[in-house]
Amino acid sequence: MIPRQLKSRGVLALLSMAALLVLLSCNPADNQSTFEAASPEAQKLLDLLAIIGWAAVAVFVVVEGILIYAVIRYARRRNDNTMPAQTHGNTPLEIGWTIAPAIVLAVIAVPTVIYIFDLESEPPEDSLNVIVTGHQWWWEFEYPEENVITANELRLPVERPVRLLLRSDDVIHSFWIPKLQGKVDVIPNNENWLKFTPMETGEFYAQCAEFCGVAHSHMRFRVIVEEPDEFDAWVANYHELATRPAPADGSDEAQGAQLFASRGCLLCHAVNGPASAEARLALKEGFERGELRFPAPNLTNFGTRGTLAAGLLDNDAGGENLRAWLSDPDSVKEGNRMAELATVYIDPDSELSALEVSQLAAYLLSLK
Ligand code: CUA
Repeated sequence: MIPRQLKSRGVLALLSMAALLVLLSCNPADNQSTFEAASPEAQKLLDLLAIIGWAAVAVFVVVEGILIYAVIRYARRRNDNTMPAQTHGNTPLEIGWTIAPAIVLAVIAVPTVIYIFDLESEPPEDSLNVIVTGHQWWWEFEYPEENVITANELRLPVERPVRLLLRSDDVIHSFWIPKLQGKVDVIPNNENWLKFTPMETGEFYAQCAEFCGVAHSHMRFRVIVEEPDEFDAWVANYHELATRPAPADGSDEAQGAQLFASRGCLLCHAVNGPASAEARLALKEGFERGELRFPAPNLTNFGTRGTLAAGLLDNDAGGENLRAWLSDPDSVKEGNRMAELATVYIDPDSELSALEVSQLAAYLLSLK
């Protein structure tokens, strides 16, 4: 038997450890912590949280204080068997506990409603427009004015308002960049939108926040906020890549480019930029007839990306992670459609050899 005192100390130690863990998870510097804001919109959410949080603390202290006071002050004394005084109705008390919750609700409601209207107001005319499409399990980003289609890395110029149009290609997802804005659901056949202005350069982690199938937790993306001239250079580089002919000199990259076409990668992935949007649509319709369900990430500027497999792995320059991904996608990201489609629709019998994998990787990494 564990002595009772020791037992309660153990419980106390466990509770303290749990509390410490909970507090550690509030570290603002963590990549997905909402306790650090890099946009005015995220800052407003943080302010709202502070108002509601402190109101809750005040309610907790008052209610628990009265409760503990009453428990101690009015506890039945030993050998005291008299009946306490019985009362019915107390007008000041009843008015008090009607007004107090009304005040609490007002403290929470007024700033919340103000912020809801603020969120619903249209962003400035010169906002950067991006069409976001959620797919099982990756993100597509289309910049209609810049004529750029990319995937899993959202590039934004710093201090310019952005307006995101949110669509889904299949099921309900949720678009979430913790340090930049709150979550918004991404729903098939219903467009939502979201605005914010990133005020700090850097890389922000982001994640699908609505369970959407087996690889939901791996449906990540990154937001890269950079100086406007860096963003412009990225757009220009995309267009240069979109028109650059495939290498044809017998190098690994050239072999890889041939494999990319001959082994069916091109059926789902575009590498020649937005000009192929129509082709992609035609493919997609064809896929729908033939039960192929989704187009796959546009790889035009794949070599410029810092991550692969929807933010899951670093896209290291040596290509180690890319080769692992190409040789056995399912072991890297269970549920992804690449292995499934490649075996069912393209060539069930032939797996890529190690040489082919490294040639394909060399080609993809050269797209920068
Ligand atoms: Cu998409 Cu979870």
